[in-house]
Amino acid sequence: MTHVVAHRGYPTVAPENTLPAFAAALRAGATIVEFDVRCTRDGVPVVIHDRTVNRTTNGSGRVWDLTADQIAGLDAGSWFGPGFTGLRVPTLAETLDLLAPSAAELLVEIKPPATLDEVKSVVAALAERDLLDRAVLQSFDADVVRKVRDVAPEVRRGLLLFRFDAETVELSRELGVVYCNPSVDDVLHGPETMAALAAAGVAVMPWTPNDMAQWRPLVDAGAAGLITDLVGELTGWLNA
Ligand code: G3P
Ligand code: CA
Repeated sequence: MTHVVAHRGYPTVAPENTLPAFAAALRAGATIVEFDVRCTRDGVPVVIHDRTVNRTTNGSGRVWDLTADQIAGLDAGSWFGPGFTGLRVPTLAETLDLLAPSAAELLVEIKPPATLDEVKSVVAALAERDLLDRAVLQSFDADVVRKVRDVAPEVRRGLLLFRFDAETVELSRELGVVYCNPSVDDVLHGPETMAALAAAGVAVMPWTPNDMAQWRPLVDAGAAGLITDLVGELTGWLNA
């Protein structure tokens, strides 16, 4: 089975990393929902991709310079379209509350920098809702992945990378990750690394194949799932 991994929810039908985008992803058949977590100045995990709120809200400034109350006061929908005016940047807690009743797994990307306490607060939010078994915590920053391992060794981990070679395999082993998620091009042009990761028991889910012509080659290359914006389209393609 190939996983349909909803990248920031279903961001072609609703603003990325918002509750309507996650609800739409579930309706469209996502088997895994991916989202991005950063912490506010006062240590509240919120779900937002960029370092700043500038692109996806009507505010400005870096997430870690703003309080949770300040971020809660921003409009995270108008930039996407008039029908989404008034949407908020969700907290991690709100996101997990929405996703918890579903059957989907959670691919939680912790954006660096993340302190040990911040990693602990992400793990705590999952634990409070009994979601640790359904979650994979991933990051582009190996140090963040190490923190996850230190805080909650029982929770599955993933590594995101901009490189895909023998060192990737070695780092994946060292970190004990279940997923190593590289770019589409890396998967399509790295058969040796794909084979070595498979031999090490590490699955691969590339980001972010939004060109449907990429799907067949990626599945044939051994991808366990595709992290895409085209959630409903991928579900339909897999079920055709
Ligand atoms: O899960 C992989 C993918 O989300 C990584 O890239 O920039 O969309 O967070 P980005
Ligand atoms: Ca992400």
